[in-house]
Amino acid sequence: MLSLSNVPTNAQVLEPSCGEGIFLESLQQRGFDQITAFEVDPRLARSFDDVQYSSFVSADIGQKFDLIIGNPPYIGWKKLPSYLKEELKENELWQTHCNNLCDYLFIFILKSVELLKPGGELIFICPEYWMNTTHSQSLRNYLITQGYFECFYHFSETPIFEQANISTVIFKYIKGNASNLPPISITKYTSRQALNAQTLDALHRSDAKIPGLEQFNISQFKPDQKWLLVRPVILQGLQRFAEACQTTIGAVCDIAHGLVSGLEKAFRLPEDLPLNTLERQHLLSVVKGKDLEQFRSTKMTPYIFLNEVATEDNLKQGFPNFYQHLQTHKAALEKRYQYNRTIPYWHWVFLRSFQRFSQPQPRIFAPVKERITHKNYVRFAAISAGLYPTQDVIALFPKPTTQESLWYILAFLNSPIVFEWYQYHGIVKGGVVEFSEKPLSSIPFRAIDWQNAQEVALHEQITQASQALVKEANAQMQEAINQAFGQLLDEL
Ligand SMILES: C[S@@+](CC[C@H](N)C(=O)[O-])C[C@H]1O[C@@H](n2cnc3c(N)ncnc32)[C@H](O)[C@@H]1O
Repeated sequence: MLSLSNVPTNAQVLEPSCGEGIFLESLQQRGFDQITAFEVDPRLARSFDDVQYSSFVSADIGQKFDLIIGNPPYIGWKKLPSYLKEELKENELWQTHCNNLCDYLFIFILKSVELLKPGGELIFICPEYWMNTTHSQSLRNYLITQGYFECFYHFSETPIFEQANISTVIFKYIKGNASNLPPISITKYTSRQALNAQTLDALHRSDAKIPGLEQFNISQFKPDQKWLLVRPVILQGLQRFAEACQTTIGAVCDIAHGLVSGLEKAFRLPEDLPLNTLERQHLLSVVKGKDLEQFRSTKMTPYIFLNEVATEDNLKQGFPNFYQHLQTHKAALEKRYQYNRTIPYWHWVFLRSFQRFSQPQPRIFAPVKERITHKNYVRFAAISAGLYPTQDVIALFPKPTTQESLWYILAFLNSPIVFEWYQYHGIVKGGVVEFSEKPLSSIPFRAIDWQNAQEVALHEQITQASQALVKEANAQMQEAINQAFGQLLDEL
């Protein structure tokens, strides 16, 4: 990281959260001798003269720096110890640009930029998520107004931090305005191998040819946008796709979240539990996220469902086997989050769209979280009426006004272009796509022009192929769907 810097060794350097001093050691070895460093945890003290063992966040630092470098802490607000929260509440930069959804990391970036001299360099290694979450927009806009980026190194699968599954970036940012803003040089490294000196050296050379390495330039970032480290040609393609679609999934589907039991293991029906007739009538057929495939699901899991049972006496008398089974979980059930009510221990805690799920229409299920590091699709499946989701699953119901068939919508959601779209425009954290209502609704949707006979025929063709795929996998049908969408998206 130090080799990214262009400052001379007599530069004023700051390390705002130096830990045991890995960066300080390299700086000293290279001859830097004007170093200031902070570390809040005195237990990490080593033999460095330049470290102040106090918080960087509230430190009154009466000078500016040529280079600020480091690996700042990253902790979600909820997990911050209260004394650090108090400190942030007093901090003007935090108050201006952040809220309780922001990460502690943000204040290290904001304050560091404030402390740079004009032309000064900020080089940080940190998680990537502040580049595309909504609540970091103010931080991103601030960065654009104060300077520009020279380069990003992006590691999406390479183990770097102890916390697994975290995408990491190293960036170099320059404070101030350049008359002609240069492009940002992007280096992406997707190998799952740990980084070694040889690879790091290769990453640095623009002619390097190592597997998993990709290098390209992008323009400087714009305000009010997510910052995507993606080749411009891909973004342009996705832009054309969104324009060809004209509407969104949110306009044609209602989206519903799965039901929350509050204690999975208490309500999942044990295989060997004997059941009386009444008990057999109080089972809910659930399709779990893990049992979804593309187009279909193969497995149903029975759950105990007693939300209509009002009293413990009714439970004991009518459902003796369930009663017995639930006793083993009673203590944990009573500790569940109560949603501002008192919930009997034999009830599920939050039914959300239960009425909707009880209606006799088929629906589409998708997992709420989908790891996409080793596959190039998300699993959207057609599910028959009578099957319910738990909170690991999100569901879509075509609106009553929607003319396109559920199977057409299903095939569209499973198509490669849609996958590419939400890979870049959806919420992806550490290689995991997250589907909540908003990102799902904002997926572009190619509606059919019902006045156009050719489009109507393609809709029919896709519907039939999709129905076949719901029954069983079939490469030919899949190819037919891809071709039909190819025609629809290339403008008829
Ligand atoms: C991700 S570690 C990086 C340590 C070091 N830069 C390295 O690369 O080994 C973040 C460090 O920030 C320190 N830290 C957390 N809050 C701080 C604060 N308010 N001021 C200074 N250091 C802080 C933590 O104690 C931890 O040592």
